[in-house]
Amino acid sequence: TRLAIADVLKGKAAIGSTVRIQGWVRTAQVKPTFAFINVHDGSGFHPIQVVAEDKLNNFQNEITKLTTGCSVDITGEVVPSPGKGQSVEIKAIEVKVLGWVENPETYPISPKPHSLEFLREQGHLRARTNVIGAVTRVRNCIAQAIHRFHHEQGFVWIASPIITASDCEGAGEMFRVSTLDMVNCPRGADGKPDYSQDFFGREAFLTVSGQLNAETYAMAMSKVYTFGPTFRAENSNTSRHLAEFWMVEPEIAFADLAGNADHAEAMLKYVFKAVLEERLDDMEFFAQRIEPTAISRLQTIIDSNFERMDYTEAVKILQASGQSFQFPVEWGMDLQSEHERYIAEKHVGRPVVMMNYPKDIKAFYMRLNDDGKTVAAMDVLAPGIGEIIGGSQREERLELFDRRLKEMQLPVENYWWYRDLRRYGTVPHSGFGLGLERCVAYVTGMQNVRDVIPFPRTPKSAEF
Ligand code: 4AD
Ligand code: MG
Repeated sequence: TRLAIADVLKGKAAIGSTVRIQGWVRTAQVKPTFAFINVHDGSGFHPIQVVAEDKLNNFQNEITKLTTGCSVDITGEVVPSPGKGQSVEIKAIEVKVLGWVENPETYPISPKPHSLEFLREQGHLRARTNVIGAVTRVRNCIAQAIHRFHHEQGFVWIASPIITASDCEGAGEMFRVSTLDMVNCPRGADGKPDYSQDFFGREAFLTVSGQLNAETYAMAMSKVYTFGPTFRAENSNTSRHLAEFWMVEPEIAFADLAGNADHAEAMLKYVFKAVLEERLDDMEFFAQRIEPTAISRLQTIIDSNFERMDYTEAVKILQASGQSFQFPVEWGMDLQSEHERYIAEKHVGRPVVMMNYPKDIKAFYMRLNDDGKTVAAMDVLAPGIGEIIGGSQREERLELFDRRLKEMQLPVENYWWYRDLRRYGTVPHSGFGLGLERCVAYVTGMQNVRDVIPFPRTPKSAEF
């Protein structure tokens, strides 16, 4: 029977039984009368050791010539392993070579560790490495856990559109979607392309967030979430920003900011637990090679409560901290990553839900607090990375929403359908967005979000 290597290592096939595995050679070591072949197939962190003896008929002309990266189809007997770190190995009965590696000296992926920078240039091959394999399994585990969590809590998954006309975050960081020939297209009196001639008959963009669409469905289905790719043309070349990233966005009718924060905390804990239960093999690797506290800190978070803190209180703490920040802190400014990290790492030492930010630094849809100066916004800040979640209670009162649009000089006519939600059966509601890559980076300890998405898109980089 054909088995995944992880299942063989877990003991799914009895000692003495015959199994068939298919995968790629990680290392091959030839001795005078036998060869050790380590084979991986992506099913778990550990490769399986295959022992091939010289009595196999293709021993001399094939097995001894295997190199890293060759693909193989192996049938053999499951035997106890004398080596440490694994309980079983395979004694080969037949080793079929499916694909050779031409010029092994020039094959870019060797069993030795490569720098992550180098691996980014090998985007088509890097999935074959230990580290990217481990990241990929953990990312999958997190995504599945997020779906499961929401399903168990009675949420309905909504597909939000990728092509949209609305700029949810109002930051003007949208990629345009157009079929116009930008050089020769018809132009209006202002010299700008005439988008009425374009495919959609208007300007269209890639979405920066599915939130506004999620809100429309929350106003009928009560508890919904979107989970998909989002796009931002922000020119920030940092280790935390991607031009294309995945976001989970729950939207909850009848929930206030406190309920929103509780949902965020419960979701993260559920996800971290799933990772420790399902992917301990990969997490042990991250703890050994990337971030020593990778496992212990997840456990600590699962067992403790997130701190809740008001923005205003954080400003006081930062001002009294005696730290020399690159950006000095005053009430009204947006907190920079150095500030977020000071609070989460030094002051609290656990994730923090920061709440109630000044309205002038936040998006148009956030609910005005009674003080008239702050809005019911929240960010979840994680030690080591800073913001991983951004969310808020939404302004559900039409009059206040309109006042806010005016204040921000936003064109009220563009928001006609969003305003309808406030005109017809409006209710308090809240939601947030978790950046999947920031979450995977946090869990694994990987320092750069480019290494936790299969194909990163960043300024000047969209190959593969
Ligand atoms: O704080 P943001 O901009 O919030 C929103 O988009 C809201 N509409 C979400 C909502 O309430 N439904 O983004 C949310 C999260 C951030 O906390 C961060 O984790 C991630 O998305 N994020 C990015 N991740 C990678 N690269 C980027 N350029 C990101 N921008 C935001
Ligand atoms: Mg944010």
